Amino acid sequence: MPADPSPLHAAAASAERPAHAQPGSAEALWALLLRQAHGAPPASSGEALDWQPDAGWALRGAWADAARALFALFKPLLDIQARTGGWVVGQLGQSLDGCVATRTGESRFINGPENIVHLHRLRALSEVVLLGAGSVAADNPLLTTRKVPGPNPTRVLLDPRAGLAERVASAQVFVDRSAPTLWLCDARWRSQAEARAGAGRVLAVPGLLRDDDGTPDAARAVAALRSRGLRRIFVEGGGVTVSRFLAQGCLDRLHLSVAPLLVGNGRPGLRFDGPARLADCARPAHRVHPMGVDQLWDLDLRG
Ligand SMILES: NC(=O)c1ccc[n+]([C@@H]2O[C@H](COP(=O)([O-])OP(=O)(O)OC[C@H]3O[C@@H](n4cnc5c(N)ncnc54)[C@H](OP(=O)(O)O)[C@@H]3O)[C@@H](O)[C@H]2O)c1
Repeated sequence: MPADPSPLHAAAASAERPAHAQPGSAEALWALLLRQAHGAPPASSGEALDWQPDAGWALRGAWADAARALFALFKPLLDIQARTGGWVVGQLGQSLDGCVATRTGESRFINGPENIVHLHRLRALSEVVLLGAGSVAADNPLLTTRKVPGPNPTRVLLDPRAGLAERVASAQVFVDRSAPTLWLCDARWRSQAEARAGAGRVLAVPGLLRDDDGTPDAARAVAALRSRGLRRIFVEGGGVTVSRFLAQGCLDRLHLSVAPLLVGNGRPGLRFDGPARLADCARPAHRVHPMGVDQLWDLDLRG
């Protein structure tokens, strides 16, 4: 892989080193972002984010380029949080031809190491990392923040029909106790889920499966999490789940990380019923962040 001069590359590389938090460094900025997202008071009166009603948070003081790039990447989420108390952000790592995995389901790793660090950062800023059942079954992920300083979020498995029942004894998200896990299912499958995982790990929601088309109701999922005080929600995948949240208008922002890779007939990323006319298609406001050899497209879905 060619050397990458982008500031986010430097920020990603430093994330895996112990946090020395030199003033003005990316590590110090990351610590500031964590405190801000989690509602903790500033560590010192000298470092600060200024709130401007029209422009949102602004970074003041002397900061390295990598720190400024990190701030630019996460500022939109901090701004939404300041205005509404939380956010719902989706992400997909995809090839140039729009695939999130090969046709056999292999997705590790479409994107470069900088993007893996980015995923862990999004988890660390969030209260929830939500994953579709298909991805849990395919990847058996841990969903922790082990590559960056920061707390683990609650792991939420969106599985309306409790299709993961056979995996409760073996899937890492159920076996590993380093973070809480909530199995989010429709209330009709409550007793089966509770019998497998225990009542404390099941969030059974009436109407989570929509009667009209049998798909999960993303708004009900978000409302159920918010009713538990979980307001910063990161929808990490897969393509079906992120597409449903997008189509149902439940995402504030979407981070699409595009890798210079061609997969062919793989698992698709975004799929939804679009308009017939090009003029009616959405053209969301966006920011593009170089991330190693990938490009991260941060789409504003509320603009
Ligand atoms: N590149 C990335 O950013 C990224 C991120 C995450 C995952 N992935 C990859 O995405 C693929 C999975 O994503 P996806 O879009 O197919 O699904 P998904 O969004 O993770 O999950 C939703 C789908 O899972 C199905 N499902 C429910 N229980 C299941 C079970 N026990 N086993 C298998 N499927 C089950 C659901 O079917 P019903 O609707 O019928 O209930 C639904 O279609 C995997 O290959 C994973 O490696 C990529």
